[in-house]
Amino acid sequence: MGAEEIQRVGVVGCGLMGSGIAEVCARAGRSVVLVEVDARALARGRSRIEASLRRAASAGKLSEDECGETLARIELGTDIGALGDRQLVVEAVVEAGPEKVRVFEALDKVVEAHDALLTSNTSSIPIVKLATATQRPEQVVGLHFFNPVPVMPLVEVVASLLSSEESVGRAEGFAVDALGKSAIRSKDRAGFVVNALLIPYLLSAIRMVESGFASPRDIDAGMVEGCAHPMGPLALADLIGLDTTAAVANSLYEEFKEPLYAPPPLLARMVDAGLLGRKAGRGFYDYTDGGEVEG
Ligand code: CAA
Repeated sequence: MGAEEIQRVGVVGCGLMGSGIAEVCARAGRSVVLVEVDARALARGRSRIEASLRRAASAGKLSEDECGETLARIELGTDIGALGDRQLVVEAVVEAGPEKVRVFEALDKVVEAHDALLTSNTSSIPIVKLATATQRPEQVVGLHFFNPVPVMPLVEVVASLLSSEESVGRAEGFAVDALGKSAIRSKDRAGFVVNALLIPYLLSAIRMVESGFASPRDIDAGMVEGCAHPMGPLALADLIGLDTTAAVANSLYEEFKEPLYAPPPLLARMVDAGLLGRKAGRGFYDYTDGGEVEG
C-alpha cells in the first residue's frame, strides 16, 4: 500500500496538532475522520481548522472552493469506533503516556484493516510503549509533525524496536508523497532529534526570565534580531503551549536525567496557573490585547 492507496485517514485529538494534521491530510485530498473526547473540544478544533484555511486563502494558497472542499473532507465525531475503516491513523492527544496508551488499545480494537498504520504524533513518549499496547506492534510508527502543521515542512519518522521497515517506509512515504512534507528519521528516544535540541534552549530562556537576567521581549529580540530565528524562544514556547513544553521536558528529564532537561519552577507554576501560552490567551505574552509582553 503506497501513499496513493492511503485515502482514508483518522486523527485522534483535535488540539493544536491534531487539527493541523487533519487539515493537511484533507488538503492532500484524503478523507479524514477526526475524533475527540467531547463536543466542545471538537468545536474548538473545527474553528481552528476554519481559521487556518481562511488564513491560507487570504495568502492566496487556496481558493474559496478548495477551502470548502477541504472542510467537507473532514468528518468530526466523538466515537473512536468511527475509525474502523481507516488505513492510517495519527494519534495526537495530550502528551501523556497513559492517555496515549489508552488510545492505542482502543485503536487496536476498532481499526479493521490488517495492514493499517497506527501512528503517533508524540514528541517524547517512547513509540514502543504505544506499540506494545496493541497486538500489531510492527505497524506502530512515530510521525511527529511541527506547529503550525500547515506551515512547517518537517515530519520526524520514528521506528520503535518492533516497527517493521515496511510500515516505517509506508508512513514516511505518506508524509512525503501525500502531504509534501520532508522527513527525517530518528531512533525511539525521548524528544527525537528536534525536541532533544530545542527543549534545552527553550528552558534556558525560561531560566533567564526566572532569574531576572533579561525580559522576555529582550530575550526574544536577541534571537530574532541576532540570530535570524523566525521567533524568539519565549514566543515559541507560547506557540507550542507551556503545558506541552513542560510535558516534553519532563519526558526528556525522565529518560536522560540531565539537568538541562529539568523544567524550571517558573514553567511549572505557569502551567499550574493555566498560563499555557497562545492557546490560553496568556503565557509569557498576553494575546488578548495584541500580544503585549507580560513580564
Ligand atoms: N496555512 C497555510 N499557510 C500558512 C498558514 C496556514 N494556516 N499560516 C501561515 N501560513 C503561511 C503564510 O502565508 C506565510 O507564507 P509565505 O512565506 O509564503 O508568505 C508563512 O506561512 C508565514 O506566515 P505569516 O507571514 O503569517 O507569519 P509569520 O511570518 O509571523 O510566521 C510562523 C509565523 C510560521 C509561526 C513563524 O514565526 C515560524 O516559523 N516560527 C517558528 C515555528 C516553530 O519553530 N515551530 C516548531 C515548534 S516545535 C514543535 O512543534 C514540536 C514539538 O513537539 C514541541
